Amino acid sequence: MTKELVFNALNEQVGSELSAWYSYLGMSAWCSSQQLNGSARWLRAQAQEEYTHAMKLYDFLVERNAPVQLKQIEPPQAEFESIVEIFHAALKQEEENTQRIDAIFQMALDQRAFASLVELQWFITEQVEEEKTARENLAKVKMVSQDPAAILEFDRVLGERDLVLDTSPA
Ligand code: FEO
Repeated sequence: MTKELVFNALNEQVGSELSAWYSYLGMSAWCSSQQLNGSARWLRAQAQEEYTHAMKLYDFLVERNAPVQLKQIEPPQAEFESIVEIFHAALKQEEENTQRIDAIFQMALDQRAFASLVELQWFITEQVEEEKTARENLAKVKMVSQDPAAILEFDRVLGERDLVLDTSPA
């Protein structure tokens, strides 16, 4: 029972990470439609990162011989008012993810699920970085939001991010 509770929560978290993947992809698609191609690239790379988070947990479940229960993923938000709304949504998403990870960590602690605790420690560290980056992006885009030239520069800088798995046309 102890293990089941934590494994169920980890299965839910696989779904949450995949929802984040889909959500960032939706944001990327909106940016592409606005010709904000640097932001689209950054958000697509972020989506790929979320996919790796999901698979890290998936692999852990498999290694622990735990049942894998894949969840349904809802369609993400497709329309946005502005690039500021995108990065506002990104920060909110990361803050909510941190809360979910913290809750599972607490559960694993209560259940003395030590292997899961070690696995989740990586995610706690990762969320510190994820929130920091999201907060910086939002602060910067808010600063330049009234200046089209500055928005273009913000977009150009974001476009310098590497894609982990670049399947886009050359
Ligand atoms: Fe999977 Fe953005 O944290």
